[in-house]
Amino acid sequence: MSKQIGVLTGGGDCPGLNAVIRAVARRSFDRGYDVVAVREGWRGLVEGKFQALGPREISGILPRGGTIIGTSRTNPYSSDGGVERVLRNFGRQGLDALVAIGGEDTLGVAASLHSEHELPVVGVPKTIDNDLAATDYTFGFDTAVTVATEAIDRLHTTAESHNRVMVVEVMGRHTGWIAVMSGIAGGADVILIPEEPVTVERACAEIRRRHDRGKDFSIVVVSEGYELTYESGERRTVAQAGEDQFGHVRLGGVGDVLAREIEERTGYESRVTVLGHVQRGGSPTPRDRVLATRYGLKAADLVHEERFGRMAALHGDTIVDVSLRDATAERKTVPAEWYQVASAFFG
Ligand code: F6P
Repeated sequence: MSKQIGVLTGGGDCPGLNAVIRAVARRSFDRGYDVVAVREGWRGLVEGKFQALGPREISGILPRGGTIIGTSRTNPYSSDGGVERVLRNFGRQGLDALVAIGGEDTLGVAASLHSEHELPVVGVPKTIDNDLAATDYTFGFDTAVTVATEAIDRLHTTAESHNRVMVVEVMGRHTGWIAVMSGIAGGADVILIPEEPVTVERACAEIRRRHDRGKDFSIVVVSEGYELTYESGERRTVAQAGEDQFGHVRLGGVGDVLAREIEERTGYESRVTVLGHVQRGGSPTPRDRVLATRYGLKAADLVHEERFGRMAALHGDTIVDVSLRDATAERKTVPAEWYQVASAFFG
C-alpha cells in the first residue's frame, strides 16, 4: 500500500507556502506516495479536516501567496484533549508521516508531538519574521523585506516634498529582522528594533542632527516589537488587548505613538504608515520561491528516509537538516553587527 503523507501550514500565512506544498507533493508523487492536506494547521488534526491533494490541486500554485490548504493559530496543547484528538485523527486518516510548515509555534508543537508521542513529523521553517534558530533564513522573509523596502522608497518622495518625518512601522514580532534589512536597503535615517534599547530621546536627537545638516526630511523605520524606551529608564510595549492560543499579544501601534512623540519633541511634522499584512500578502519573490521549493524537496526526502523530528534548514547556501527541538528552543535575534551596519547611516 502506498504511503500517505500529510502536509499542514500553521500560523500566519506567508509568501512561499504554496511553493513548499507543491515541492513536497511533486517529489512524493514521484515516489508513488499519496499526499493529504491537513486543513487549517493543527486545527485540521484536532478536528479531523483533511483533503486529498493530487496533481490538479497543486498545479499553478508556485507564484500564489497565502496557502491553498488554510492556516490557523490553533495550539492542540492549549485545549483539553487536543493532543489526544491530534493523535487519534492522525491514525484514523491512515497518515504515515506529516510535513509541518510553520514558525516557532507550529514547529514547537511538532517538536513536542515528536518527542512526547513519536509522531512521525518533519518541519519546514516559515515566517516573514526570520526569527527561527538553526536556519540562516526562513522563506517569506525576503518577500516581506522587498515589500517594506519598496514602501520606504515610495515614502521618501512624500517625506522630501513635504519636509516631513515619515515613520514606517513594520512587522517582525519580537525581532527586528524586517526593520533592519528594509531599513538598510531603503536608506532609513533611524531604525528602532526590540533588540536595541535606543531611546526616543536619542532617535529625536538623530533626526535633529540630520536636519541641522541641511536635510529637512527623515525616514524612521520602527519594528512593531520595539519597546518605547526613555532616558528615565521607562519602557513600554504598545499592543492590543488579548492573547492568541500560544500566549502572544497582538503587536501594532508603536509607530503611531512614536510619530506623535517625534513631532512634539522636535517640532517637525510627522506621519506614520503601518505596513501590516501587506508585508505577508501576494506573490513570493523569486528568492523565496526557490528557497521554499528547496525546503519542500528536502522535507519530502526526510519523510522518505524516515528521519523524523528534523527540520529543513539553510546553512550558507546549502540545504541541511537540523533537529526540530534545536530550531524551536530559542528565538534568533538580530546580532549587534547587523545593527551597526544600519546605525552607520543614522542622522
Ligand atoms: O509572525 C508573523 C506575523 O506577521 C508577525 O510579524 C505579526 O506580529 C503577526 O504575525 C500578526 O499576526 P496576525 O496575522 O494574527 O495579526
